[in-house]
Amino acid sequence: MKILDNLNDGYKILKENNISSYKIDCEILMSITLNIPREEVLLNLAKNLKKEEREKYFDLINRRKKNEPIAYITKNKSFWRDIFITNKNVLIPRPDSEHLVEQTLRFIKKDQAKRILDVGVGSGCLSISILKERPYCKCDAIDSSKNAIKLAKTNANLHQIIDRIKFYKRDVDNFYNDKYDLIISNPPYINRHKIKYLGAVNYEPKIALDGGLDGLEIIRKVISKSKQLLKINGKLILEIGYDQKYKVTNFLKEKSFFINKIIKDYGNNTRCIVSTKIN
Ligand SMILES: C[S@@+](CC[C@H](N)C(=O)[O-])C[C@H]1O[C@@H](n2cnc3c(N)ncnc32)[C@H](O)[C@@H]1O
Repeated sequence: MKILDNLNDGYKILKENNISSYKIDCEILMSITLNIPREEVLLNLAKNLKKEEREKYFDLINRRKKNEPIAYITKNKSFWRDIFITNKNVLIPRPDSEHLVEQTLRFIKKDQAKRILDVGVGSGCLSISILKERPYCKCDAIDSSKNAIKLAKTNANLHQIIDRIKFYKRDVDNFYNDKYDLIISNPPYINRHKIKYLGAVNYEPKIALDGGLDGLEIIRKVISKSKQLLKINGKLILEIGYDQKYKVTNFLKEKSFFINKIIKDYGNNTRCIVSTKIN
């Protein structure tokens, strides 16, 4: 059977299972099966697949059909200017988190040597992207998940910044290292009871999503810890949930942070808060 016929069969299966990105997903899965770029798949539609290639392709289609995210199947995801290795131990990097990278870079000139702390490093996509843009900066990165730290190290090696980032397997509560110019964090911020309704997100580790009973448990910890660890005038750049703006800004003010700005994401939802420790 030709590549085209197999693609069409795959489209049908994924479409019937309500995968809206069925077309591109099948093409990506075919490109993994054949170990060639997606463009090459489309240039070779009349080529026949071997039996074992067809079996491999439909194994992948069956995983995707059950809503497993494509980034776990392909084991990578593009973010900012790079590709990051992903696995089931980390949150898949989200385009909306690029706002956090963009905002952070605004506070660091190209030739500055700032010290950054990344709380909840996950795949490492945030701090690695920032360090690659700012060659004189250094970063400490913590995560309570040992497997997340392991993957972040792999990504730091892949992107050749391992000498500028130090990893700590640590809960944010138990970190007392140093003083930082900037703290960045995309903490888990989903209300525990709502996680089960999140569909594809359910493949991702609970530890990366679970923000406790009100969704704000870890955010509050990150803010309290940032109060201790930031230098005066240091910046805290936080990703938050779309409905957490008022509670988070109030908590920041209680801890004497000045709110610099609140940024909306591509879907026009509040996504990121930039604040300054003023005393
Ligand atoms: C939403 S994910 C963000 C991952 C990555 N920074 C990103 O933006 O894609 C949150 C991360 O925080 C980690 N985490 C959860 N609770 C934590 C805690 N109490 N202390 C430190 N890290 C924590 C999780 O293991 C997870 O890797």
